[in-house]
Amino acid sequence: MERIPQAIANAIVDPVVFGDTAKLHETYAWLRANMPLAIAEPEGFDPFWVVTKHADILEVSRQNSLFHSADRPTTIVDRQGDAFVRKLTGGSPHLVRSLVQMDAPDHPKYRALTQSWFMPQNLKKVEGRVREIAKGAVDRFLEKGGTAEFVADLALGYPLHVVMDILGVPPEDEPRMLRLTQELFGAQDPDQARMMITMMDTEQIALMMKATVDDFQSYFSVISEDRRRNPRDDLATILANATIDGAPISDFEAMSYYIIVATAGHDTTSSSTAGAMWALAENPDQFNLVKRDPSLIPGLVDEAIRWTTPVKTFMRSATEDTELAGRRIARGDWLMLCYASGNRDEEVFEDPFSFRVDRKPNKHLAFGYGAHLCLGQHLAKMEMRILFEELLPRLKSVELAGEAKVSQSSFVNGPKVLPIRFEIA
Ligand code: HEM
Repeated sequence: MERIPQAIANAIVDPVVFGDTAKLHETYAWLRANMPLAIAEPEGFDPFWVVTKHADILEVSRQNSLFHSADRPTTIVDRQGDAFVRKLTGGSPHLVRSLVQMDAPDHPKYRALTQSWFMPQNLKKVEGRVREIAKGAVDRFLEKGGTAEFVADLALGYPLHVVMDILGVPPEDEPRMLRLTQELFGAQDPDQARMMITMMDTEQIALMMKATVDDFQSYFSVISEDRRRNPRDDLATILANATIDGAPISDFEAMSYYIIVATAGHDTTSSSTAGAMWALAENPDQFNLVKRDPSLIPGLVDEAIRWTTPVKTFMRSATEDTELAGRRIARGDWLMLCYASGNRDEEVFEDPFSFRVDRKPNKHLAFGYGAHLCLGQHLAKMEMRILFEELLPRLKSVELAGEAKVSQSSFVNGPKVLPIRFEIA
């Protein structure tokens, strides 16, 4: 059985490598060229297959009964962290039970609760509200005049505001939600962690995550209670009153649903938004192209999502012995889907390392594929399109004004500091 060299195996789980985009892509490119599907056993981790080719990621993602999400951790965790979570939960490898940790028969039932809400037809209802939020965010941003830190000054707050609006969280509670989300998703990044210490072991991280989940639970149980008594036209009302097979869903599952929407909905979108601005600042020809022809904005959005691929990895486990790309996968084997690698696959994308707003087709995998295909993809793309429709006509030029930094996390990551200089049109 092919084993990935130890240094590479360690690199693909190392948060520090994820904070260095060039290094990460160099590692993935090596794997695609030399060991596109092989086993890694980083120190302290159970072994897992590393899936780096676009075609193989698709193959695994669309066979949802053969490759489960619920049976083992859905995000990469070391042996100690896995054991600790199981100790906390009484055996389950998951701290929460949301769509991403479910398989059929439950998964389609839970997904159906909100699926139609997230479809483009229904989103038209919120488009006006999203544009209002975008306009306000752009106005405040331009007031900075000349130089700004794009992440803190625009990219972070805007999608958070949209998703909180949808969930019915009042603006005064948004800073708390922002903090909780970053703790849950960016917990490996020392700057974002609850405890400001640079070295934490996995037990400490798991404890921190549990505290964060408890915080979410107490917050959303109040909102749920309110929506049962005073229903409104928001997602919180759908969740608070949801039933499956005639019975209300449990508080734990409702809370998990809030968490997935609250967390999946903004760090990802803000990373892609900042990724777009970063790429435009570095590629003035692309900036001018999309400025001259705003019909390219949806192309800019898709390319920025491919380019950034904020969700770096998800895990699956095999339910039966099977074969994938000529390799024998055994029942119970764990697999890492490396979306950011698939999105630079030379066999699928022409010139994958250049940022092109007019890339067509753009069959990126940043939203996953199959039964778990991102529920919020249309919302994310709509938010980004509207933001750039509002922002680009008001900018004459944009360039980097200092060192940009990327967050250090092997799950969801993206730009965390992006100093830019701009001229107003
Ligand atoms: C650019 C932004 C986004 C990216 C790159 C992204 C990426 C992903 C990916 C890769 C998955 C697949 C998980 C898997 O296969 O196990 C996923 C699932 C999901 N996403 Fe997104 N997402 C984004 C924005 C959003 C937004 C705005 C929302 C909601 C407000 C959202 C809600 C969800 C939910 C609920 C799931 C779980 C679906 C399921 O398991 O059935 N996402 N997302």
